[in-house]
Amino acid sequence: MKKQAIFPWGMIFCLAIAPVYGQYYENVKPHAMVEKVTRLHFFYHDIPVGNNPTTVLIAHANITDNFFSPSPYGSLYAMNDPLTVGPDLTSTVIGNAQGMYLALSHDPVKFTAVFYADFGFTTGRFNGSSFSLFSRYPPTDFVPSPGTIREMAIVGGRGAFRMAKGFALLRATSSNATTGNASLEFNVTLYHY
Ligand SMILES: *[C@@H]1O[C@H](CO)[C@@H](O)[C@H](O)[C@H]1NC(C)=O
Ligand SMILES: *[C@@H]1O[C@H](CO)[C@@H](O)[C@H](O)[C@H]1NC(C)=O
Ligand SMILES: *[C@@H]1O[C@H](CO)[C@@H](O)[C@H](O)[C@H]1NC(C)=O
Ligand SMILES: *[C@@H]1O[C@H](CO)[C@@H](O)[C@H](O)[C@H]1NC(C)=O
Ligand SMILES: *[C@@H]1O[C@H](CO)[C@@H](O)[C@H](O)[C@H]1NC(C)=O
Repeated sequence: MKKQAIFPWGMIFCLAIAPVYGQYYENVKPHAMVEKVTRLHFFYHDIPVGNNPTTVLIAHANITDNFFSPSPYGSLYAMNDPLTVGPDLTSTVIGNAQGMYLALSHDPVKFTAVFYADFGFTTGRFNGSSFSLFSRYPPTDFVPSPGTIREMAIVGGRGAFRMAKGFALLRATSSNATTGNASLEFNVTLYHY
């Protein structure tokens, strides 16, 4: 009689314990998450020359050295470029774009690259948040005509921009083909939670 009474309790105990050790995941019902849309407007400055370059060449294919181009095919750059409120580098800095870009043009006077960069903010409402841009920079004359708007893809984000997706529309506001100095205006649209 005693044995029979203990048995069901043992079964219940085993069933209660089993999921804890047998499962390494948890199914969570999605919250009714509300998508937000944020638009950002800022200027980006790429300065490969001078005493404080923001972009440096870190690797390149030696067989493309003879190409006449400031950024021959196969050149890989590290960048930590300032983002400012206004078009001048002297205007208020609000963040930086950290990452790399790989120049991919065989044409010496056209610049094409793929960017792998994290655009982070260091002030204001989005201080500490960043979005991830992974996209090609479509071909352009090396001195981009000021009016041409290009589009790049945004694939993720951190902080306030967690799970962001979106796009950036950008155009050069100034550039110098000799030095490679360039400033670009960015309009970014982010969909995030
Ligand atoms: C490129 O590097 C290879 C291997 O070091 C070398 O043999 C070749 O001469 C280099 N080419 C040029 C153009 O420097
Ligand atoms: C941005 O956030 C960092 C880290 O929390 C903090 O140290 C810094 O003071 C903040 N900057 C501004 C301008 O709020
Ligand atoms: C960014 O948006 C502003 C305001 O709508 C507009 O004046 C500017 O031409 C846009 N620039 C780009 C590169 O999209
Ligand atoms: C580009 O930079 C070179 C070298 O500093 C300078 O001589 C030239 O005037 C600049 N060009 C423009 C359009 O600013
Ligand atoms: C490149 O731009 C930076 C920042 O505007 C400036 O300090 C530097 O003199 C420029 N260099 C050339 C060679 O134009």
